[in-house]
Amino acid sequence: RKPIAIPDLFELKRAGRKIVMVTAYDYPSALAAEAADVDMVLVGDSGAMTVLGHPSTVEVTVEEMLVLTRATRRGVNHAMLVADLPFGSYEVSDEQAIATAVRFVKEARVDAVKLERGDPDSVSRARAIVAAGVPVVGHVGLTPQSATALGGYRAQGRSAESAVRITDGLLALQDAGCFCIVLEAVPNALTAEIMPLTTVPIIGIGAGPATDGQVLVFHDLLGIREGKGAKFVRRYADLLDAMADGVAAYARETRAVSFPAPEHAYGIDEAELVRFRE
Ligand code: KIV
Ligand code: NA
Repeated sequence: RKPIAIPDLFELKRAGRKIVMVTAYDYPSALAAEAADVDMVLVGDSGAMTVLGHPSTVEVTVEEMLVLTRATRRGVNHAMLVADLPFGSYEVSDEQAIATAVRFVKEARVDAVKLERGDPDSVSRARAIVAAGVPVVGHVGLTPQSATALGGYRAQGRSAESAVRITDGLLALQDAGCFCIVLEAVPNALTAEIMPLTTVPIIGIGAGPATDGQVLVFHDLLGIREGKGAKFVRRYADLLDAMADGVAAYARETRAVSFPAPEHAYGIDEAELVRFRE
């Protein structure tokens, strides 16, 4: 099967068929995403928290994101692979943004990069990266890299001023050449107002059902985490509990010496044992 390309996403938008995006950060999560036949896989900087255990996304480095992205790439053949540019790797200048984006293409073979901010500087970065030949996904609304400035992890666009800011940011990113934009944590009614203005696929998270598709964090939707997470998450499994149960069963049986059992044993010829003892 041919890998998903940008025109396929526009065709899904045109046809009104929802686009499915999920995050992944390593080879097994990539295999799960591919087996589920998603359209887009995002190596989010959320990996700072979900797999590296940091308290926020700002700690993760380019080198760490490249390790996660290369591992994910090895498991993704059909879905479009996108990676977040981490905090600090694109803010200084358009030149810095291009250099970082090019590293993700050359060293991890991503199909596109995502910028985590929707402010005017990011619009310039998006335009520069696109001009350098790397497709860019935008991100507006709740952008966790700037959570501190936004007043924490909370819904955005709930005042007229904030709604205007988000709409202007989204339209500016669209004009700058982003082929897709993530819209995070905004009222459903605002999404419904924005959607008719969009010409590129809009992927929502906590933005209601009107977007062209949805994205969720792998560890949130599968319950590979402590706590229950954001209001907009639906949990489809409780894998952290399942993993802990599995390790606990192994620990119990090891201590009871009911593991290993005869079926786990390698054999050796008696004659070899005799020779060994000599
Ligand atoms: O880092 C991430 O996981 C994201 C998605 C929630 C869109 O940016
Ligand atoms: Na992100």
